Amino acid sequence: MSQDASKNRMWSGRFTESTSALVERFSESVSFDQRLWKQDIAGSQAHARMLGRVGVLAATDVEAIVSGLDGIATDIAEGRFEWSFGLEDVHMNIEARLTERIGEAGKRLHTGRSRNDQVATDVRLYVRDGIDELVGLIDRLAAGLLDLAEREADSVMPGFTHMQVAQPVTFGHHMLAWREQLLRDRARLLDARKRANVLPLGSAALAGTVYPLDRHYVAELLGFDGVTENSLDAVSDRDFAIETVSACALLMVHLSRWSEELILWSTPMFGFVALPDRYCTGSSIMPQKKNPDVPELVRGKTGRVVGDLNALLVLMKGQPLAYNRDNQEDKEPLFDALDTARDCLAVYADMAPNIVVKRENCRAAAAKGFSTATDLADYLVRQGLAFRDAHHVVGSAVAHAAQKACDLADLPLEELRQFSPLIGADVYAHITLDASVAARSTYGGTAPAQVRAAIARARSKA
Ligand code: ARG
Repeated sequence: MSQDASKNRMWSGRFTESTSALVERFSESVSFDQRLWKQDIAGSQAHARMLGRVGVLAATDVEAIVSGLDGIATDIAEGRFEWSFGLEDVHMNIEARLTERIGEAGKRLHTGRSRNDQVATDVRLYVRDGIDELVGLIDRLAAGLLDLAEREADSVMPGFTHMQVAQPVTFGHHMLAWREQLLRDRARLLDARKRANVLPLGSAALAGTVYPLDRHYVAELLGFDGVTENSLDAVSDRDFAIETVSACALLMVHLSRWSEELILWSTPMFGFVALPDRYCTGSSIMPQKKNPDVPELVRGKTGRVVGDLNALLVLMKGQPLAYNRDNQEDKEPLFDALDTARDCLAVYADMAPNIVVKRENCRAAAAKGFSTATDLADYLVRQGLAFRDAHHVVGSAVAHAAQKACDLADLPLEELRQFSPLIGADVYAHITLDASVAARSTYGGTAPAQVRAAIARARSKA
């Protein structure tokens, strides 16, 4: 990056001394906002075309600007563009180069525009593209979870509350629970996209402009759904970015929860799943180790994205209308949140369908902890006992079985009948793991038949 452009700044007309080197380094943003170059060029080309259409720019100038910017885009894409700190940000770097390339016409591009509405436009375009990328990855991951759920629709595992064994559930049902979280994240991102996808350009510095701009035409050229309603708001609003990062933070919180489960499940104590080797690493000292690095990193990166959201909220707090330079600080947290969410989704989309479920271990774990105690109570209710009394009877039976260190289903009939004469020989058919899950067949319940129905509904919607 060159530093030599400190003289002749675009705004230097009223200044008698140049910015100190320290302030130049302190205030530059081109080191991180250069990644907005595509959006900046698209926005400038649309602005120029519109200026031509409304008669503010001559057709020859528009032509020179549009093709000059195309040339700059090629230079940037091919790594031939030299970014200059002295030119502060992506906008001034590109505009300065344009004028170098095409002369006078380049200086006319900024007519009726300010960097305030320019940057707001670029960031909105960037957010829109970022959301579209995340949604594509979410769709891949959700499809992988659906396949995994289908494969494991009958696999029994313990369901937990308070991290204690509660009732048996199916592994497929658990995967569909993850998928529901993800689908809400998808909806939140698309909802944020609606509010991000309106054009601020034409708001100029803060008050609008004297030129007869056709803002709707620019919106159409750039694929915006409409234009912003108020120029003061448009140049200062960053809530579209905050909403997007908020959706990313919540998405990461979900991925972090899954990560925690996968980390637990892949320990020898649980042994519910094996993660493919390519998502794990070994230890340099302990030869037996296979560490679940990918889920651990995803869990750890959640902190960054929650931090990004916090940074943006505090950045906006207390800002008076309209644009303030504070807003330059929106970019790094926004980019970091989008990058991190994208990378975490990409590794999960890759890994999730390849999770190996150790069905026997899951089943054995589900048989521990009296997970079918509720089924025994439900059995007694069907024999006419009130649920509260049944609950009490089963509690005593569980205490007895715990003392004998066996499961309820291992108690002989005479022993079970000591707790209630309503218990008959048919009870055993009701307190197996498979009977327990099959019986939970309310809509959205864990029964394999319900899991299959949910998968069918998901597939018919897709
Ligand atoms: N680099 C600035 C930003 O990201 C661009 C807008 C600067 N506007 C200004 N009036 N200094 O916010």
